[in-house]
Amino acid sequence: MATDQIGDAGALLPARAAGEAVPAPGRSTGPVQPGEPVEDEQALTRRTFQTYVAASLSSFAAIVLGLPIVGYLAAPLVSRVTASWISLGRADAFAKSDPQLVSFSITRQDGWRQVAESRAVWVRTESDRTVAFNGRCTHLGCAFSWRTEGEHAKRFFCPCHDGVYDASGTVLAGPPPRALDRLETKVDNGELFVLYQDFRLGVADKESV
Ligand code: FES
Repeated sequence: MATDQIGDAGALLPARAAGEAVPAPGRSTGPVQPGEPVEDEQALTRRTFQTYVAASLSSFAAIVLGLPIVGYLAAPLVSRVTASWISLGRADAFAKSDPQLVSFSITRQDGWRQVAESRAVWVRTESDRTVAFNGRCTHLGCAFSWRTEGEHAKRFFCPCHDGVYDASGTVLAGPPPRALDRLETKVDNGELFVLYQDFRLGVADKESV
């Protein structure tokens, strides 16, 4: 096995005729003169093989040790909104038939900067359960609204490309590829909280971003 590996590494050396003397390290190339120090060809091949192994191990160690550092440095370069609990106010304020819009500010990581942006959720009571929808249309992220009258009465309507959702968030018409994005909620000491996060737009699956 070891003999085979040495043989492979030796293939990288310039071809020499069998039995030809090899100049000692540090000597310029050319024919070996009588009396000049020579080095055993097997010893040279072994040393070359060891050099390749050492270089390979060093490269591997550098990659393994460097990956966490690269990950740490690159992480802030990704634009993302970290999910966080947002207070929406008193829970009993949402015990109404029509959905209520609540706007607030979130912090988005943009490269190395933190950027404050406004976001909104629509909150409605559904079978004694509070439901919150992310305020961005799942098509391209436009703000939609709850219509109380007209052609789309009792529906959510997105004016950008005429996207229509029913009260439960299901798509009724237009290009939105999926239902409205539901968010987790909780009530703590009479106060309603929503776990706000954004999701990938324009795709059928609900994927956190
Ligand atoms: S962004 Fe809402 S329908 Fe296109």
